[in-house]
Amino acid sequence: MAAASVSIPDPEQYGIGAKTGFLPPNPPLTTLPSTYYAPWEDIANNLPLLVREQRLRKVIRKLPVLETNRLQSRQEYERAHTVLSFLLHAYVWGDEDVATVVPPPLSIPFTRICQVLDLPTVAIYASVVLWNFTFIDKSDHLDFSDPAKLRSSLTFTGLPDESWFYMISAAIEARGAPIIFDVMQALQAALKDDCCRVIETLHRYRTGLKDIACLFDRMYEGCSPEHFCDSIRPFLSGWTKIRGGSTGEVDGLRFDMGNSRTSYMASSYGPSNAQCSLIQFFDVSLGVSHRPKHQTEVSQHAGDYLHDMRKYMPIYHRKFLEHVENVPNLRHFVQLHPNNSELVSAYDSAIAGLTELRDRHLRMVLRYINIEGPDEKSQGAGAEADDPVRVAEGTGGTQAVPFLTETRAHTTNAKIDKTIQMANTNDRSKNRRGKYCML
Ligand code: HEM
Repeated sequence: MAAASVSIPDPEQYGIGAKTGFLPPNPPLTTLPSTYYAPWEDIANNLPLLVREQRLRKVIRKLPVLETNRLQSRQEYERAHTVLSFLLHAYVWGDEDVATVVPPPLSIPFTRICQVLDLPTVAIYASVVLWNFTFIDKSDHLDFSDPAKLRSSLTFTGLPDESWFYMISAAIEARGAPIIFDVMQALQAALKDDCCRVIETLHRYRTGLKDIACLFDRMYEGCSPEHFCDSIRPFLSGWTKIRGGSTGEVDGLRFDMGNSRTSYMASSYGPSNAQCSLIQFFDVSLGVSHRPKHQTEVSQHAGDYLHDMRKYMPIYHRKFLEHVENVPNLRHFVQLHPNNSELVSAYDSAIAGLTELRDRHLRMVLRYINIEGPDEKSQGAGAEADDPVRVAEGTGGTQAVPFLTETRAHTTNAKIDKTIQMANTNDRSKNRRGKYCML
């Protein structure tokens, strides 16, 4: 690798903290400092009650249209995005019928905030997880990676299960933080051809992935599949399936921008963990491709979809992933040393860790969104992608099981040992063919 021409990104320049990873380095605001925004905060803090009593839509329609020019920092914009995202999804999904038009008190400020943050007009993973956590014990600002010490600032339902669902992801983000910084050091080491350092990092990578897999399993501790399915998940849907407007020919949600102004339709996916930058970072740094050479329809869709999900990430995280993508990844480095068995096996072990993570995730998904309820067969790692029963859709709009089975397969396929064996086999057969020709 030409060391001089490659710049390894500094994560901190992209708002990534050594302890917090993609969570903000300082805990997010739990209220907007200006009392001007108290009407928004008041509704957000009473959301579960207003939804339960079906008073929310009326209250929102009566709100004044607040200006956004009193928001003073990126943190304030992010808090405002979180607050209005909760109001918006509760407005659309929190009543007996679906609201197909968003009124000006919500649509005007939310659209402006989304323009400033360069995000689609919908709640995103960042607004329900990254910008929505706080410490249960306020003096305990140390351990971001224990979900039991965190709670979400806002919820739709008031159920502890909802907070737990978001906080598992927050804890995963924090556990991922040291991996990000370690990998940056390893990429530097790779430029100096320092195999030992890369091997050490890959071993720690594997350990980190195991810890994250354990955090996945803690979902069951505090979030019941029934509450998730019946009460929480409906609020997290997006706008792609809403039949909008009186003509009904376009799918989406109409944002009414006020009397004399036009309205517009937005057709966006709902917040999904597929918008989590950390897992995409694992793929990019380990060189896992979701756009394999021999594409099936499902695999092409998976690659395009995951790439699309970047539009739903905070812009600085998006840019970080792009920067890492422009650096030769760990797979590339390992492939330059095919005979270093220790290096190849450390890399393959990290890949096995990521595969295991996706496997646990898939099992969890089958348990939480399997419309038929969990059964022995559906929880197995070998669940069939084309089983017609398993076409349940994710909040991010995918056919969950075929999609997740595919991303797991792409991960397994990144293993190098198998590739080397195949290359050796090809070489041997080429040599054999060569010999035959000479004969
Ligand atoms: C009850 C818990 C969970 C359920 C039901 C669930 C469901 C899903 C579904 C249905 C998808 C497909 C995309 C979509 O249509 O939304 C997905 C994708 C994804 N989820 Fe989850 N998820 C859960 C928890 C998590 C957690 C805790 C994480 C980690 C932070 C996570 C990370 C991902 C990632 C990275 C993807 C993209 C696919 C991939 O990269 O393999 N999920 N999830």
